[in-house]
Amino acid sequence: MTDRYAVFGHPVAHSKSPLIHAAFARQTGQDMTYEAILAPKDGFAASVAAFVAAGGRGANVTVPFKEEACRLATRLSARAECAGAVNTLTFASGEIRGDNTDGAGLLADLTQNLGRDLAGRRILLLGAGGAARGVIEPLLAQQPATLVIANRTVARAQGLAGLFGHGVVACGFDALAGAFDVIVNATAASLAGELPPLPPTIFAAGSLAYDMMYGRDTPFLAFARTHGVATADGLGMLVEQAAEAFFVWRGVRPDTAPVIASLRAAC
Ligand code: ATR
Repeated sequence: MTDRYAVFGHPVAHSKSPLIHAAFARQTGQDMTYEAILAPKDGFAASVAAFVAAGGRGANVTVPFKEEACRLATRLSARAECAGAVNTLTFASGEIRGDNTDGAGLLADLTQNLGRDLAGRRILLLGAGGAARGVIEPLLAQQPATLVIANRTVARAQGLAGLFGHGVVACGFDALAGAFDVIVNATAASLAGELPPLPPTIFAAGSLAYDMMYGRDTPFLAFARTHGVATADGLGMLVEQAAEAFFVWRGVRPDTAPVIASLRAAC
């Protein structure tokens, strides 16, 4: 019997996840379908329950339901607990298992696709919302020399740093001093077409500026280019987090490179 999967979001029509998982399923010969489900903003749990009742095996969760999915899960992976958010649900044996593959997705893109070794490197994470929180623990696991979280609202960066203990420094954009090897933009500024007020001294020769957003050039990436540093958008992260979810569900690792290439060509 064909297994059913879905992504829940609001909005969700723009989601590339159905395309990505269809490509993974074809490539690996998995008998499954994957659809996009628009859940009402106040009806996420009911939508998930209906999907499970109809035989759904698993789901991805996107904006604005990741924190709610974390509360809905009856069991959380360690990485979902650290992230405080869930992007991957598995329905089995009456359980709702919650996982978070966003951090693994970023890491796979940075280290495998972009060839960046993060050990001993200086990492700057911009933003202190859900997107930032989801990637802190996996970044720390790479043992960088420093991990600085800079945010418009400094108290929020401090609160986040406090969750992860020593090794994480929090500050505002105006207090940023010195250069970083990898700068990850996890703010929502790109969505609004805005650039956080960053000093250009954060860039050095060989730095990588990474924007979690994908699908369009962002002011942050344009700013980085004017300072001569390498840039990457979040398309690779998107496909890699999907591959990790696919592995959680199916126990098979798809080849991400052709899927990233075909999405890139379609952008
Ligand atoms: P997400 O789940 O996408 O992280 P969020 O929890 O609302 O969404 O967090 C949005 C992040 O983007 C926050 O770090 C926010 O900064 P504040 O904590 O100061 O609100 C940041 N952000 C949003 N718009 C921004 C802008 N124009 N410039 C800089 N940072 C911005």
